Amino acid sequence: MSVPNHVAIILDGNGRWAKAKGLPRTAGHVQGAKTLEQICEDAYHMGINYLTVYAFSTENWTRPDSEVAMLMELLRNYMKNSIKRAQKNNMCVRVIGDKSGLAEDLRTSIEKLEQATQYNTGLHFQIAINYGGRDEIRRAVVKLADKVAAGVLKPEEIDDKKIAAELDTAGLPDPDLLIRTSGEQRISNYLLWQASYAELYFTSVFWPDFDKNELAKAVEVYEKRDRRYGLVEEE
Ligand code: IPE
Ligand code: IPE
Ligand code: MG
Repeated sequence: MSVPNHVAIILDGNGRWAKAKGLPRTAGHVQGAKTLEQICEDAYHMGINYLTVYAFSTENWTRPDSEVAMLMELLRNYMKNSIKRAQKNNMCVRVIGDKSGLAEDLRTSIEKLEQATQYNTGLHFQIAINYGGRDEIRRAVVKLADKVAAGVLKPEEIDDKKIAAELDTAGLPDPDLLIRTSGEQRISNYLLWQASYAELYFTSVFWPDFDKNELAKAVEVYEKRDRRYGLVEEE
């Protein structure tokens, strides 16, 4: 089997990475953001066309206020600083998740980055912020219900395609490989609809230490898998 077209990553273990080094959790997030920049380049060089990472979940708001504030600041800086790099790498960036729950200035920075990179044809890079799979499905259901109420859609016309088209990932292929770092083996509300048939790969490496070699290992394992969709073997 060939290189996965779409890789999704639950980047986990920033806090534990920092703790193991006697550093504050925030140092783990700073290093994790650097890892992310590098992985985007490495993934594309390896032949991966779509990369979707989990940066902040709908549940992460319950973390201490200071950590939430620090993560939002990191994301703010990321949006502002990555326009240049994204252009240089021909990367198309899109944020998934409920943007209405984000601060207005962060939303503006996200829109600027998305608009500036929308026609780029290199890596399609999705960052999940204020994202939860259940919340995404709930928002899609509300949109469909609105259409039914407005009389432009019949309930019996709602099929998988119509649901997928209302998700934040509309237009994107489903992930082929889902990676989670740091030893946790949970989905944590990530891409619940889209990852239905993704191959799962777990590694104990903390996210800040995840690099090209670790990504290559995951891809190698994926390539050896006997990938079946509902019992139809891939050619
Ligand atoms: C992942 O690292 C980053 C985010 C969830 C924002 P964590 O912050 O979850 O790190 P651990 O799991 O506590 O080590
Ligand atoms: C999942 O990691 C969310 C992100 C990576 C953004 P968490 O560390 O928040 O998940 P749990 O709490 O261990 O399930
Ligand atoms: Mg964690």
